[in-house]
Amino acid sequence: MCGIVGYIGTRSAPEFLLEGLTRLEYRGYDSAGVAVQHNGEIGIRKKVGRVEELGKLLASKPVRGSVGIGHTRWATHGGISDVNSHPHVGGNGEVVLVHNGVIENYAKLKEQLQALGYVFRTATDSEVIAHLIAHHLEEQIKLGEDPESQETCLKAIELSLKKLKGTYGLGIIFRDVADTIFAVRLGSPLVIGVGKGEHFLASDASPLAGYTDEVVYLSDNETAVLRADHMEISHRDGGRLKPSVQTINQVTVDLDLGRFEHYMLKEIFEQPESIENCLRGRIDEDSATAKFGGLNIEPQDLRLVDRIVLTACGTSWHAGLVGEYLIEEFARIPVEVEYASELRYRNPPLSDRTMVFAITQSGETADTLAAMRECKRKGHKSLAICNVVGSTIAREADGGIYLHAGPEIGVASTKAFTSQCTALVMLALYLGRMRHLSYHAGKRIIAQLREMPDMVRRTLQCHDAVKEVANKYQGFDNFLYLGRLYNFPAALEGALKLKEISYIHAEGYPAAEMKHGPIALVDEETPSVFIIPRGSIYPKVMSNLEEIKARRGPVIAIACEGDHRIADLADDVIYVPEVDDFLQPIVTSVPLQLLAYHIALKRGCNVDRPRNLAKSVTVE
Ligand code: G6P
Repeated sequence: MCGIVGYIGTRSAPEFLLEGLTRLEYRGYDSAGVAVQHNGEIGIRKKVGRVEELGKLLASKPVRGSVGIGHTRWATHGGISDVNSHPHVGGNGEVVLVHNGVIENYAKLKEQLQALGYVFRTATDSEVIAHLIAHHLEEQIKLGEDPESQETCLKAIELSLKKLKGTYGLGIIFRDVADTIFAVRLGSPLVIGVGKGEHFLASDASPLAGYTDEVVYLSDNETAVLRADHMEISHRDGGRLKPSVQTINQVTVDLDLGRFEHYMLKEIFEQPESIENCLRGRIDEDSATAKFGGLNIEPQDLRLVDRIVLTACGTSWHAGLVGEYLIEEFARIPVEVEYASELRYRNPPLSDRTMVFAITQSGETADTLAAMRECKRKGHKSLAICNVVGSTIAREADGGIYLHAGPEIGVASTKAFTSQCTALVMLALYLGRMRHLSYHAGKRIIAQLREMPDMVRRTLQCHDAVKEVANKYQGFDNFLYLGRLYNFPAALEGALKLKEISYIHAEGYPAAEMKHGPIALVDEETPSVFIIPRGSIYPKVMSNLEEIKARRGPVIAIACEGDHRIADLADDVIYVPEVDDFLQPIVTSVPLQLLAYHIALKRGCNVDRPRNLAKSVTVE
């Protein structure tokens, strides 16, 4: 997490930095700051709170210049305060930097630097890097090197990096080296925007929208030296690299809320279109299967795959669970769904015929990236289901499927989830059709899949009903979310949404498993959200619902249109259109997203910027 920006050219740096930080705010919003170099001085402004607060500070205490770096923070080490905000200063102000990542050995380095007389002003791990570079700079100068030379600074950076353990994306400026920004990457993404007589730096391409579509993605262990009209990239192992400039046509950000009050609500309502975009061009009617342009794996090799590992975090992990049910049902390939944070260290036995899929909206989640790299290192074909084009995971995967859901800005993921489920249905269909699934079964799946945008459009008509339910239940402090089969992941996802944005304790459970523990929680004060659309095990879920009612637990049911029986049993019902079992999570997750949204709103929570969370978790 944390977002980095940088600018060098002829424009007003603070303006670009502020705008860029606003676009990167999804990566953290504990505090923000900028450092701008001008006439041999570096002006720093930093402030707790959102980028807006930094904007106000800059309006009252401006800094001017056309070289600068900026940062929006998600606190890891050190509390949320003005002083702990980035940029951080090294030595006596000769080095100023912004950092995204975690320095694991910072405590030891801090001790060593303190012993050398460096005075720490913050409780962050990042300040260690600033002092370390200042220290090596001083040493170089003592050796007779020119303090104003780029080479001396590079040497100081290189020597410092050798001592760091952890991850970093860094933007660095030096007081005595005019018009140069240094950028370094290990584990935290950085992209350089190439303009005419100007360069941009950012954690992802969104701040570049409207400025340039020519980019260079820095790879791990690479350092870039940026001047207005010149760029150099070198690798840690030595040697200059020729920058590989790519043109990306997806540098757009839609920050317009339109008629909506929040991005989350906007994104919930975008789902019919995002699902449509995910489906576009990927259905092969003639062969009753799906087709993917970017899997980069031959059908005959795919045919040999005998096990699939889906790895992800958060909401994407829930989509992975839906994927497990789908792939096992349609393709009969055993699937495991692994938390990426576990997989990266667990070292499970994976055969040569195992295929790994990372599922991620952002393509930058540190654990997912590390798990994918670990599997790749062991020689497994690693693919990704990803939303953000050009993200690190998208670039490092052997192939994959883009969601085409468009930018998701609300921290709580919504449209990415339904698009991930849609992509997984197509993947399961594709794998199934090269195995046991018949032409007619494929045709049936396709026909239903094609209806999904309309089904979700119809589902969104439950909005007013959900608002009423939210009003009634906003005061409760514990919720259970219960569902079976494909609706078990939907229950997990519904509970996560409520936790994330309304800070209410909620647990998702397989509806029948609830008897083995959570039922002890049930009383008049603990509502259960039952996901109970008509389907293969509807009567079974109904029995589970009766068990809750028998213990006087309030029940909110998510049920199919026309299900009148449920209205007699549940306290409240939200109706959704009827679809086949395997498509149910795409439909049933929609009212759950809306329910979390409206309860959070009623409780006065910041829906798009929930406390302690970040959209993209780039630390492990
Ligand atoms: C964070 C976000 C979640 C997201 C998870 C995984 O926790 O707040 O909404 O599901 O990261 O992110 P990814 O981008 O890998 O899907």
